[in-house]
Amino acid sequence: MRHKEFRTKPPEKVTFIFIVIFIVCGLVYTPGATGQEVNRMIIHTDKGKEQISRHIYGHFAEHLGRCVYEGFWVGEDSSIPNTRGIRNDVVEALKKIKIPVLRWPGGCFADEYHWKEGIGPRDKRSKMLNTHWGMVTETNAFGTHEFMDLCEQLGCEAYIAGNVGSGTVEEMQDWVEYMTFDGDTEMANLRRKNGREKPWQVRFFGVGNENWGCGGNMTPEEYAGLYNRYQTYVRNYSGNEIVKVACGPGSVNFHWIETIMDKVRNRMGAISLHHYVRGSGTWGHNQKGSATKFNEKDWFALMKNTLTIYPLLKDNIAIMDKYDSGNRIGLFVDEWGTWWDEEPGTTPGFLYQQNTMRDAVSCGIFLNAFNEYCHRVKMANIAQTNNVLQAMILTEGEKMIVTPTFHVFEMYTVHHDATMLPVDLQSNDYKYGNDGVPAVNVSASKDKSGTIHISFCNLNPNDAAEVSCALEGAEPESVSGRVLTADVMTAHNTFENPEVVKPATFNDFKLEGNVLTTTLPSKSVVVLALK
Ligand code: AHR
Repeated sequence: MRHKEFRTKPPEKVTFIFIVIFIVCGLVYTPGATGQEVNRMIIHTDKGKEQISRHIYGHFAEHLGRCVYEGFWVGEDSSIPNTRGIRNDVVEALKKIKIPVLRWPGGCFADEYHWKEGIGPRDKRSKMLNTHWGMVTETNAFGTHEFMDLCEQLGCEAYIAGNVGSGTVEEMQDWVEYMTFDGDTEMANLRRKNGREKPWQVRFFGVGNENWGCGGNMTPEEYAGLYNRYQTYVRNYSGNEIVKVACGPGSVNFHWIETIMDKVRNRMGAISLHHYVRGSGTWGHNQKGSATKFNEKDWFALMKNTLTIYPLLKDNIAIMDKYDSGNRIGLFVDEWGTWWDEEPGTTPGFLYQQNTMRDAVSCGIFLNAFNEYCHRVKMANIAQTNNVLQAMILTEGEKMIVTPTFHVFEMYTVHHDATMLPVDLQSNDYKYGNDGVPAVNVSASKDKSGTIHISFCNLNPNDAAEVSCALEGAEPESVSGRVLTADVMTAHNTFENPEVVKPATFNDFKLEGNVLTTTLPSKSVVVLALK
């Protein structure tokens, strides 16, 4: 999506007259039915080259607060309906968003996790202290077998994060062999003894997490040296092929990514990037602001902060391009999302936050950005699946609700593995005080059946946005749509009112030839399907 610019060479299939009208309209003030200036865009439906990996719609589950315990794991004896200890309602909900990949066991927890403590009979597993997250006792009831069972129940791929910060090379080597080797070795036989005859497929393996911080406080040079050593022993066994993921930067740290790209190069299949956003608060404890009690200043601040994902991707990719011009190494944004103060009255260190229409619009923007940079962004994992940070699912004992963010993921499933379509966008600003951001955010794709999907976000919480969209290279015959919006910015789902924010049918569009016009409600996410 390119803002406020158009290609210099007109596309062949759009008539000259149409282009002239389009450009002239873009240059002069042209109010639409709402009295607002019309936003204009061109979708190059015949210029799609890159596939949007479904892994961009990935998730992350850490041993943190109630993400794994209660969120997924309730135990076989629980009164909450479960399959081998994993709650059924959560699995069913996540299947609706076609969860493609799940990252586990951390996060910061990964670099203090010793996997051998989490196998064998549950009553014999040793307990450890979860020093990062609330100083609670980790029972190790949920370990490798339970996680792989969860992935099988969800029908998703496994992304394991290994321990570099406090683990040994041998421990990492053993884990990979335990999970994936089919032959006659101590590790493979131990797996069999613990109930799993055949090895699992483990496609993604992270060599450490945030090793510039909670994963060992290393310099990039130190980490690159360790990465090269550890990854040597992350081997492919019995037909399993692992994409090795090196630890990348947290938000802006170009020295880190440059050093890793330079010193690791082809020993990795991907490098990670973490990017959390907030409103007008600071990153201090209890200073990030409330998830649900905020005003327009905070709304605007989140929209502005969320849009930083565009230059962040562009700049990191430019560095990757220097060392990997063949585009072989993927950028995995394997932690991202909003981060608010913990809900009052909840356990400190558990990072439990509510989730409003503001989070939903932020999520739509992030996903549009990942779609746009899909030539390099091959995976992204929102933090985190249940009860932690920008969650899909909130639970309270046996009760379960889905969040506005869940609905965005569900609406965007249409982009999974589709071909990204380039978009030129000329958006008006959503102005707040002396500041402003583009009001409309968008991405588009074409799926295998030829259906074009456009996902729009209207960042303006007050005004609708009229959009005129030229479809270069296509003349679809029909349109259908869905919208996620709410009366107020702070709208959210609760256990008492679980359906305050949910998708509805959307009909506010018109198709004439290859020009689509639509009016996006204020503070909304809209997905249109054109056939
Ligand atoms: O997602 C919460 C934490 O944020 C993760 O454990 C860590 O990797 C990041 O700092």
